[in-house]
Amino acid sequence: MDWGMENRMARMFSPVSHNTVMLAVDHGYFMGPTHRLEDARSTIAPLLPHADALALTRGILRRCVPPQTDTPIVLRVSGGATVLKEDLSDEKITTSMREASRLNVCAVAMSVFVGAPHEHESLVHLGELVSEGEEAGIPVMAITAVGKELEKRDARYLALACRVSAELGAHLVKTYFCEDFSKVVEGCPVPLVVAGGPKLDSDRAALELARRAIDEGAHGIDMGRNIWQSDHPVAMLRALRAIVHEKATVREALDVLEGEKGRPTPAAAA
Ligand code: 5RP
Repeated sequence: MDWGMENRMARMFSPVSHNTVMLAVDHGYFMGPTHRLEDARSTIAPLLPHADALALTRGILRRCVPPQTDTPIVLRVSGGATVLKEDLSDEKITTSMREASRLNVCAVAMSVFVGAPHEHESLVHLGELVSEGEEAGIPVMAITAVGKELEKRDARYLALACRVSAELGAHLVKTYFCEDFSKVVEGCPVPLVVAGGPKLDSDRAALELARRAIDEGAHGIDMGRNIWQSDHPVAMLRALRAIVHEKATVREALDVLEGEKGRPTPAAAA
């Protein structure tokens, strides 16, 4: 791996745990003003110092994140469909590698839609994006299965989607946790991070998901709704950090959550 590429990867993954806690706030690119992400600037501000990377689009980056931040940016560069359309897979690359480089990002990310009507285009776009990323020294994260594709959330489907993404050169892959997740990990030679999916019934359920994902070989999380739709987003993010980086059990992470709940956030304290 070239120095620039390796440096960017190293900034996102802890040298100690080899894992990462990414905060996903890119949902608006196809879902619009998602609950509790309507005012993205206010949602992001208190969470930013606790995230190893922030995943979002160029619009929200430019409007809602201070350029002084040293949190690595994972820039979503695909889009073109919304939840109003039957077929979410009709995406193209919407932000160039040149612009990603100008924005000084640590990685770019795009969705691949294995098994969907636009499977072919999304996979070819991934290959092309990887070629550009190799040239620019910017890692590419493939995102498997969003929206309706999530109905196929099983190890056989996700293992296929993750492996195909790695074969096409993705440097890391974001996917979803499922039963037999270790089979997805086994077949994928690049680091996998897991999304949380729609808000679960409780904070405990999201912590359990993270614990199981790490135990079965994930190199971290790229989670959104189960953090910022929680009633205690900062506490939740810190509890997830304990799991991802400090080998905390779910019980220990719940203690972190409880302990952090009463603590004022810097924004609230100011
Ligand atoms: C949506 C995404 C999200 O970043 C991904 O789903 C992670 O967020 P969540 O934990 O809320 O599922 O790719 O386009």
